[in-house]
Amino acid sequence: MKKVWIDTDPGIDDTYAIAMLLADADIEIVGISSVFGNVTVEKTTYNAKVLMEAAGLDKLPLARGTNLPLHVALDTSPFVHGANGLGDMPLPEVHMSECAVRAPQAIIDVIQKFPHEITLLPIGPLTNIAMAYLIEPSIVDLVKEVVIMGGAVHCPGNITPAAEANFFHDPHAAQLVMSAGWNVVLAGLDVCDKGRIPQALLEQIGNGKSLLAPYMKGALPFFRHFLELFAMKDEASLPDTMAAAYLLKPELFTVESTPLYVETEGACMGQSLAVPRGKWYEDPGSQARYSADAHLGMVDVLVDVDVAKFLNLMEDVLV
Ligand code: BDR
Ligand code: CA
Repeated sequence: MKKVWIDTDPGIDDTYAIAMLLADADIEIVGISSVFGNVTVEKTTYNAKVLMEAAGLDKLPLARGTNLPLHVALDTSPFVHGANGLGDMPLPEVHMSECAVRAPQAIIDVIQKFPHEITLLPIGPLTNIAMAYLIEPSIVDLVKEVVIMGGAVHCPGNITPAAEANFFHDPHAAQLVMSAGWNVVLAGLDVCDKGRIPQALLEQIGNGKSLLAPYMKGALPFFRHFLELFAMKDEASLPDTMAAAYLLKPELFTVESTPLYVETEGACMGQSLAVPRGKWYEDPGSQARYSADAHLGMVDVLVDVDVAKFLNLMEDVLV
């Protein structure tokens, strides 16, 4: 049984990702933290409660995360996910309570409670994860793995030409998390964009067996409208589902292990760069050697997926 802590900014595709984990008997969701991202943390926390109550997870810990990124200004994406973060569908009242501690501390606590057992699944900006690391760096050796939706390593970004949204929304946090030294698996746009889900399957999922089906169905029309701007008419890319799919079936993916750097400033802020390994430059006079990857962490980047099997998985768990 895989123990998973989800750090999320729900979020339309976040909802699908959570639904996928819920459906797998080998996954135990041990708690959820919210983070600003698609909308403010006030709204993502509310949405997390809506989803947890609908899914029967309301007795699990829900830890409210950070309001702001580490260093850049707050930026959200209501044009993608709706002003309420769930496609502006009507949402019910919520009743569940929140953890007494905030997300970074809750993440530290769960990793210390279950050493070497916790998989962190961040599918929003990485601020909570970076703060947990800054407060308690020893969690690096206690966590099992960190499986992230974020970045665009060998392809263009989606929020700027260079950057994917989760990395763009807190590039300093992303760079900290990449270089911390834990086992990081990155489901970036490289692989997420390959797993586009046909409209017919989306409709089946919306009418499917998941307890979250009403939210997937209700939030999707807003997202579809956004995707049509990018000529995605009969299909949708739902990036967070790819990170969830990796937890359910890692064998579907091709992995490239590389030192990874995240740009934190300028026009390319949030860009994720695979850095060549080894010697980069040798000073002809002193023969001193400089290597571009000297202070970077190795990251397992998902570069390809068996799309047919990914779609079968979506159908198996959600229809
Ligand atoms: C990521 O940004 C958010 O809009 C999505 O929920 C996903 O986590 C995709 O770039
Ligand atoms: Ca997300």
